[in-house]
Amino acid sequence: MASLSALARDLSNALDRTRIMREADLPPDPWQVDLLESDHDRHLVMCSRQAGKSTTVAGLALNQAFYDPGLILLIAPAQRQSVELFKKVREIYGRQTGAPKIVNESAMRMELDNGSRIIALPGTEATIRGYSAPKLIVIDEASRVEDALFAGVRPMLATNQGRMVALTTPYGRRGWFYECWEHGEGWQRTKITAHDCPRIAPDWLDNERRMLGEWQYKQEFECQFVDTEEQFFSGELIEAALRDTGGPLWM
Ligand SMILES: Nc1ncnc2c1ncn2[C@@H]1O[C@H](COP(=O)(O)OP(=O)(O)OP(=O)(O)O)[C@@H](O)[C@H]1O
Ligand SMILES: [Mg+2]
Repeated sequence: MASLSALARDLSNALDRTRIMREADLPPDPWQVDLLESDHDRHLVMCSRQAGKSTTVAGLALNQAFYDPGLILLIAPAQRQSVELFKKVREIYGRQTGAPKIVNESAMRMELDNGSRIIALPGTEATIRGYSAPKLIVIDEASRVEDALFAGVRPMLATNQGRMVALTTPYGRRGWFYECWEHGEGWQRTKITAHDCPRIAPDWLDNERRMLGEWQYKQEFECQFVDTEEQFFSGELIEAALRDTGGPLWM
């Protein structure tokens, strides 16, 4: 039987959702604290490059795995990226004391002795089917995740109260993330520009602005949806057309 002090430690850890990041020497920024402590079941986070999206998602996945065991799915535009995200999860896991033990692991998944499974999925719709009732789905680089993949993932939450948290730097006025951010219902939205990240220095940002040009700087660091360079029709034209046809199917 677990000792009283072990139970007390588990309880206080479960109540402090920032502990996992702190234990990995990553004291969370205020926005990271807000996200770790949020209970919204649908959350969109639009974020500057290098603000700490993947790190926060890793902390979020481990909080879920330790304190409310179940299936956790990591999604990214391509398998290479979801594997990178999984590596972050594994790295932060490795810096925890008293965590549930790993009973099974590979380069894309880990299973804990409390029954939790964290699985990095490939980035194509055809290969993600078969998982049901995840407790948490995290989508990293969400604006680059294809609409078909997003449409394939959503039904997994049909029968339970699982959460979906999507983090991304914007990528044009197109795709499911943009549509959900602009028009979707039932989503909590959080926006974090480079100025909100204490690790990004203002003079470094000024230099990036000069190097990248206004268009790309706005997208990468100021969280603005700008039309992609290759886009043949402008976002405004496309929006007008969608208004006339009733909008996309996932809304
Ligand atoms: N709270 C924190 N304290 C200290 N370092 C942090 C914190 N959050 C993130 N970092 C560090 O900042 C860097 C960027 O983090 P991360 O890769 O999570 O950002 P990102 O937003 O996913 O970046 P990208 O836009 O390139 O995908 C990493 O070196 C990470 O360890
Ligand atoms: Mg990242």
